[in-house]
Amino acid sequence: MPENLDAVLKTTRLLQGKTAIITGAADGIGLACAQTFGAQGGRVFLVDVNQAGLEEAAAGIQRQGYKATPLAADVTLPEDVERIFKEVLEPDILLNNAGGGLPTDLLDISLDEWRRILDLNLTAAFALCQRAARLMIARGQGGAMINMSSVAGRSTSVTAGAHYTSAKAGLLGLTRHLARSLAPHNIRVNAVCPGVIATQRLARRLEDIGRRAQVEAEIPLGRLGRPGEVAEACLFLASDLSSFITGASLDVNGGALMI
Ligand SMILES: NC(=O)c1ccc[n+]([C@@H]2O[C@H](COP(=O)([O-])OP(=O)(O)OC[C@H]3O[C@@H](n4cnc5c(N)ncnc54)[C@H](O)[C@@H]3O)[C@@H](O)[C@H]2O)c1
Repeated sequence: MPENLDAVLKTTRLLQGKTAIITGAADGIGLACAQTFGAQGGRVFLVDVNQAGLEEAAAGIQRQGYKATPLAADVTLPEDVERIFKEVLEPDILLNNAGGGLPTDLLDISLDEWRRILDLNLTAAFALCQRAARLMIARGQGGAMINMSSVAGRSTSVTAGAHYTSAKAGLLGLTRHLARSLAPHNIRVNAVCPGVIATQRLARRLEDIGRRAQVEAEIPLGRLGRPGEVAEACLFLASDLSSFITGASLDVNGGALMI
C-alpha cells in the first residue's frame, strides 16, 4: 500500500496536530475550507475583515467539536498581517483564499481600482507567504501553502475585469516562485484554480441576472461547483497526501477549462 494512504487509513484525520491559517474564512469557499480543515483535526485560525461573520463561522466550527479561532484582520493592511503572525507563531499551513474581483470594463478601470484588486488578490498573498515562510523556516518542520487563484488566472475572467485576471495569473507565478525558493525547507506551495463555484453570493447573483442555467450548460459536468469540492482539493494540497507536489495548480472547474 502507498505509504501516505497507509498513514491516512491509520489516522483518518489528515490534519491532526496541524495549525492552519485560512484567509477570507467568514464565508464562501474559505468557510468551507475552515470547516473541512477543522473536521480533519486541524487547529484553524479564521481570518476575515467581516468580524461578525467571522465570529459566527468560528463558533459554528467549535460547536461541532473542532478547533477554530477567529482573527479579524484586513489582509491588505501590513499592520494586520503583522498581527496575524503575532497570534499564530507556528503555522503549518497557510491558505490564501481572501480575494475577489469587480466587473469593471477594461476602459473604465482606474489606476486606484487596479491597485486595490491587485493588493487583495496578489500582494496580500505575497506578504502572508513571506511572513509564514520566515516562521516555517525557523521552525524547520516544513509546511504547506495554498494560493486560491481562479480559472481566470489560467484563461480570462468572464465576470470580473482585467485586474482580477492579471492578479490571479500573477498568483500562479508567485506560487511557482515560492515553491522553488522554499522547496529546500520542505515547504510546499501550490495553487487551486476554481471555476464557477456556487457560493451563496455567486449563486444568487447568477440567478438574479438569469444566467445560472446558461453557465451550467457551458460546464461539461453540467453544474456549478460546491464550495466543499474546492475545500477538498485544498485539503489534499494541505495534507501529506500531496507530499511530492509543489509548484502545481489544481483545476477544480467541472471541465470548464481543459489544458
Ligand atoms: N466563487 C467562485 O466561483 C470563485 C471562482 C474562482 C476563484 N474564486 C476565488 O476564491 C476565493 C474565495 O471566493 P468566494 O467566492 O468564496 O468569495 P466570498 O466573497 O464568498 O468570500 C470572500 C471572503 O473574503 C473576505 N475578505 C474580502 N476582503 C478581505 C480582506 N481584505 N481581508 C480579509 N478578508 C477579506 C470576505 O469578507 C469574505 O468573507 C477568492 O480568492 C476568489 O477570487 C472564487
